[in-house]
Amino acid sequence: MNNIIKIFDTTLRDGEQSPGASMNTSEKLEITRQLVRLGADVIEAGFPISSPGDFESVRKIGEEVGDAVVVCALSRAVAKDIEVAADALATSKRPRIHTGIGVSESHLQHKLRISRDEALERAIAAVKLARSFVGDVEFYAEDAGRAEPAFVYRMVESVIKAGATVVNIPDTTGYAYPEEYGALIRGIMEHVPGIDKVTVSVHCHNDLGMATANALAGVKNGARQVECTVNGIGERAGNTAMEEVIMALRQRRAYFGADTNINTKEIIRTSRLVSSITGIVIQPNKAIVGANAFAHSSGIHQDGVLKERSTYEIIDPAEVGAGGSSIVLTARSGRHALRHRISELGSELPDNEFEKVYEAFLALADKKKEVFDEDIEALISDKVKHITEVYVLKSLRAESGTGITPTAVVEMQVDGKTVKQTGSGDGPVDAVYRTIAAITGTKSTLDAYLVKGITGGTDAQGEVTVKVEEGGKKVAGHGADTDIIIASAKAYVNALNKLEYWKKGRPKNA
Ligand code: KIV
Ligand code: ZN
Repeated sequence: MNNIIKIFDTTLRDGEQSPGASMNTSEKLEITRQLVRLGADVIEAGFPISSPGDFESVRKIGEEVGDAVVVCALSRAVAKDIEVAADALATSKRPRIHTGIGVSESHLQHKLRISRDEALERAIAAVKLARSFVGDVEFYAEDAGRAEPAFVYRMVESVIKAGATVVNIPDTTGYAYPEEYGALIRGIMEHVPGIDKVTVSVHCHNDLGMATANALAGVKNGARQVECTVNGIGERAGNTAMEEVIMALRQRRAYFGADTNINTKEIIRTSRLVSSITGIVIQPNKAIVGANAFAHSSGIHQDGVLKERSTYEIIDPAEVGAGGSSIVLTARSGRHALRHRISELGSELPDNEFEKVYEAFLALADKKKEVFDEDIEALISDKVKHITEVYVLKSLRAESGTGITPTAVVEMQVDGKTVKQTGSGDGPVDAVYRTIAAITGTKSTLDAYLVKGITGGTDAQGEVTVKVEEGGKKVAGHGADTDIIIASAKAYVNALNKLEYWKKGRPKNA
């Protein structure tokens, strides 16, 4: 048996059916290019009869990809749909028409209102018509997951005789369980004459969270094509997630006795592209592509991973194009993880200093969900390094109100010399920051500005945190005052001093 599983990507068709995910032609082309880099075997480019935009996308995608990939267009078992699909595929070097009809009692009785025999007739006519346009015709037996297996066998046998080259057995409503779905595919493999001449395809939806498991059960029982979407997007709870199927097959090759031709290193890039184009955010704990897929938070796991990655990771992040494993510093992290991060940040602390930082780290981690690199740098400089302040804020006056340009007068000491300057900006904080930037001549950029009230009421102590960056070095600055403009100035000056420290003064291995 052929051991290569074809990846049929339907992100641009079934994936686009996710609420809010519609894409224009140029966005679809961008995703297409990435799918080609990834090595998808088939791209379902759209449903041409459904809209002029879908028609155009199928045409443009056909033009774009040449013979790199099969381009597939969807149709119902309706003559007009098939003719329009064939028209849209005229630009494609490897065209495939995907046509089909419902096979469950629910679809036959309520949606189509036809008998089984009529469904068979329509299916056969549709496949024959599609074959008159292209040599590659895929038939889908819609809602096969809820249909009577004997009728599915009959339908599949009829469409193979009519000329189908691929038969797709969708679990359209995500109803089946892996054992049932696997048994359906096995039944088809065992009972349908001529099945060895065609490719059996699985197409699963995720209503019960089984889409990937069902698709893999199909593979285990003889399917050789998996229909899936990037990040599992799609109608309702979505489709089988492409990245999950690919990595399950790669990781458990011996178990499945099969693999794909996919370049797995392109997985993360593909996932991010689809997420940014569709606006569908990837849940952090999503398998393979979620932000936490390779992040370790508990002290025991962190210690294990730092000793040997495979203790808690079954996939090397590099294999899917991810940056690497990450150790998330939280209140559950131990000394090993903190020491490792401090060393990554460029410092090796002697034990007595490390203990001071570790204690302060635990106190901070109890208050914060996650301790970031900037926080650690702040702890190091507070507890064990003593930053000489290059910049000192001496005085500050800011003026703003309706109908006037916000201005600031700032007096600072720079390397011991007093400098006073006036500036303006879009608001009082902007005016102060521009003036401080002019006085210090900083080349840094302000990446984040955050204000928090420490106490309640209008007399609250305000705390400002800023993040600034220069030449790849990021630091955080903090400032607190009852006057939020002064707190903002203190935070900025604090950050600039830290930047100076890391830029020139930081003794390595101190
Ligand atoms: O879920 C489904 O049955 C489908 C078909 C149109 C292939 O998407
Ligand atoms: Zn579907």
